[in-house]
Amino acid sequence: MKYIALVTGASSGIGREFVLQIASSYSSLDEIWVLARREASLQQLEKEVQEKQLRIFPLDLSKKENLEELETALAKEKPCIRILVNSAGCGRGGTIESQDWRDACHMLDVNCRALTVVTMLCLPYLKRRSRIIQVDSGSAFLPQPGFGIYAASKSYVLSFDRALGVELRKKGISVTSVCPGPVDTEFFRAGGITLNLLKRMFLVKPGKVVRKALFDAEAGKALSIYGISVKAVRFLGKLLPHEFLLGLMGRLLL
Ligand SMILES: NC(=O)c1ccc[n+]([C@@H]2O[C@H](COP(=O)([O-])OP(=O)(O)OC[C@H]3O[C@@H](n4cnc5c(N)ncnc54)[C@H](OP(=O)(O)O)[C@@H]3O)[C@@H](O)[C@H]2O)c1
Repeated sequence: MKYIALVTGASSGIGREFVLQIASSYSSLDEIWVLARREASLQQLEKEVQEKQLRIFPLDLSKKENLEELETALAKEKPCIRILVNSAGCGRGGTIESQDWRDACHMLDVNCRALTVVTMLCLPYLKRRSRIIQVDSGSAFLPQPGFGIYAASKSYVLSFDRALGVELRKKGISVTSVCPGPVDTEFFRAGGITLNLLKRMFLVKPGKVVRKALFDAEAGKALSIYGISVKAVRFLGKLLPHEFLLGLMGRLLL
């Protein structure tokens, strides 16, 4: 039986960094399965990773037939998935009124539906001490005016992860929600988002977020938060009425 890690969103940013760090620190893995739409970027990553064999899946996870392709590959290989990382995601900024509903649905398809389906497809192949790492966001903790649909999609992920974590506890499988603040990746450019001064002040490198996430996942933690900005938001969210915080965010972010 093959021992693998499976990483979605592996063509750039946080997902790509997960592949690099997993390849260099998990010697017992036979392969890393990497998923994203951009095949050329996955091939480039394959060239860079010397330590491990990569298996490339150029899939659009918003498409049902592509998810079925993954289902078929898993059923054929029956690997043991030691680490599952769901990092594929996208975000579009702007008020809810200003958004095109098709873009909104695409975002929900990738951030919520694909993450849910990929996780469900992998469940039969996870064993005791396997780790599920879901790349969520600090915006999961509070509604975010001006980024409302994205933040709501990430709240879904957090709720899903918490329930799954409890369901899998007896099996010895952990679920870690990684909730970073702004990270220096292609994310903002891809979503046509201009970073405001507040977010630019707290921008961090993906390497640090991923290092902490892998550490926290191995420790079986339900949450992994790198950086002061999200810790502060989470703390204030517990301390102050949400109406007050939302009003403040509306003034700062809109
Ligand atoms: N950057 C931030 O500030 C930040 C903060 C908090 C949370 N996050 C979360 O972190 C995760 C990774 O984002 P990132 O910052 O690394 O951004 P990124 O560099 O834009 O990476 C996004 C990844 O998702 C993949 N992806 C997008 N749509 C896809 C689809 N339909 N099918 C398959 N793969 C798809 C992209 O690959 P292809 O384009 O090749 O398909 C890419 O590999 C996301 O879930 C994001 O919400 C990011």
